[in-house]
Amino acid sequence: MDHTRDKLCVALDGSDRVWIVSTARTLAPHVGWLKLGLEAFTAFGPELVREVAGLGPRVFFDIKLHDIPNTVRRAAANCAATGAAMFNVHASGGRAMLDAARAGAAEGSPSNPPMVLAVTVLTSLDREALAELGLGRTPDELVLRWALLAREAGLDGVVASAHEAPAVRRECGPDFLIVTPGIRPNWSSRGDQRRVMTPADAVKAGADILVVGRPITGAEAPEEAAARILDEIG
Ligand code: C5P
Repeated sequence: MDHTRDKLCVALDGSDRVWIVSTARTLAPHVGWLKLGLEAFTAFGPELVREVAGLGPRVFFDIKLHDIPNTVRRAAANCAATGAAMFNVHASGGRAMLDAARAGAAEGSPSNPPMVLAVTVLTSLDREALAELGLGRTPDELVLRWALLAREAGLDGVVASAHEAPAVRRECGPDFLIVTPGIRPNWSSRGDQRRVMTPADAVKAGADILVVGRPITGAEAPEEAAARILDEIG
């Protein structure tokens, strides 16, 4: 990631198509990445992903696939065909599913396959929730184990909290992409995020791409909020 703006990904969360596209247009000259997730996708489908992917910044399609390998392979090919530069799958789908995601990405966009990231442990799951699922490990242990599995399967990186970034970096090496949500500049409100980190600290912790939503999209002038964050990490 050479340019500072390639370290910033703005999450366009919402169910208002006009707002999503106009905010994407406003931010397009300023940031390297835009993220579309399940909320926007379930409302507007792959057409919206295609449209935003045509605006300039690369699109992180946060679709979190999780199914049998054959289905994931086909869905991954469809994700790649939208023009998204990156999408993700749940690491807990297992090695064969991770292999299938990579294969599907190459099939859907042979000349320029998107990067594939793994989601490790959802930050909403604590130790008790994992135990209830029959997973008798701490979230930290599972994050590292699943990150290593993703790396072994040839995925490009993981989505992880900035607090997990140093350990993931240590275990998975310098070329493994670490994409971190839960970012809050000192001047913004936390909202519902709990374990937050400032943009500068997240980069210091080893994050390659920061996913920032409401501190930018909720600001009066989103492009100014983005510029302020870029200043802090530049
Ligand atoms: O508005 P905010 O900056 O909290 O948005 C963060 C984005 O990152 C949202 O799209 C949210 O779904 C996503 N995310 C997260 N925490 C995770 C994984 C994804 O906040 N553990």
